[in-house]
Amino acid sequence: MGWYELAKPLLFALDAETAHERGLEAIAHGWVSGRRYNDPALRTLAFGRVLDNPIGLAAGFDKNAVAVDRWAEFGFGFVEIGTVTRHPQPGNPRPRLFRLPQDRAIINRMGFNNDGADAVADRLSRRKSDIPLGINLGKSKITPLEEAPADYAYSFARLRPYADYAVVNVSSPNTPGLRSLQDKDPLRRIVMGLRDLDATCPLFVKVAPDLSESALDDVLAVASEAGLEGIIATNTTLSRDGLTKESQEAGGMSGAPLRPLALSALQHLRRQAPPEMQLIGVGGLMNGEDAHERMNAGANLVQVYTGWVYGGPDFVAELLEDLARLRADR
Ligand SMILES: Cc1cc2nc3c(=O)[nH]c(=O)nc-3n(C[C@H](O)[C@H](O)[C@H](O)COP(=O)(O)O)c2cc1C
Repeated sequence: MGWYELAKPLLFALDAETAHERGLEAIAHGWVSGRRYNDPALRTLAFGRVLDNPIGLAAGFDKNAVAVDRWAEFGFGFVEIGTVTRHPQPGNPRPRLFRLPQDRAIINRMGFNNDGADAVADRLSRRKSDIPLGINLGKSKITPLEEAPADYAYSFARLRPYADYAVVNVSSPNTPGLRSLQDKDPLRRIVMGLRDLDATCPLFVKVAPDLSESALDDVLAVASEAGLEGIIATNTTLSRDGLTKESQEAGGMSGAPLRPLALSALQHLRRQAPPEMQLIGVGGLMNGEDAHERMNAGANLVQVYTGWVYGGPDFVAELLEDLARLRADR
């Protein structure tokens, strides 16, 4: 039995956000570690770099980049920090993070709690590891929707020097009106603003799993027009489909019940996107088979969040072992 199997009941006895804070603190201080699985066959080219493997830590776990030097030790091939906003902000009142263990799901309405772009940039300027790094950018709550382009641009300018890629997050359900920025015109204004600042940084847009196919096509059209690197599909869902036990909590749902929605959004994007467009698959990846399925559906890379919370520090190694085996069996 690994240490996480012993520690998990204690961590899960705490409220979910306190457990998250303690866990992240332990990771940042190097008090805990995970198993690594190295296999040259899993090396992947992305954002102009060679990644050890295609599994990344999804945005929202290390919002403020406090553990950025530690993620390679848990086997991740890349890590996405954020969401970071221009202004520091506290997020929604607690409690705002809820585990649904019977369904291996999480509901959250964090609301982009983060230290703000300046503080995160200062922290990143002191980083030591060179794990491939994405910066996920969001709109500050106090910034009106029409002024979103300047808000994203400020954070991008501050954080871009440390990033291998940047993400325009317009898909969190927890900032009022944010998802309307997935519409063609507002999205175009945001991404063109970033392009004008720096045309060399690979840019992604992160979409919601609740978009219709025609709305996904609109995002693709903007992505092609603006020469974006790709799309991250998906964020959390407002749907409660697949839960065996009802939950009254508001917010975005992640984990196992999200898998079918996130998979079908990715499949649609792969069918419609030009072949060179990079797709990062995220949502409900709970094991190596899910990762294999997502990559067969056309994801160039995948990310995990909820699976890692339930699976623990050896999760990435286990997933990679299964992925390598499934690929060899093909
Ligand atoms: C507690 C929590 C906080 C999150 N915060 C962010 C965030 O700040 N920015 C973002 O783009 N996605 C955020 N996400 C979404 C994840 O990055 C991911 O897209 C989603 O959880 C689906 O993946 P999963 O099923 O593997 O968890 C968050 C998810 C959770 C559970």
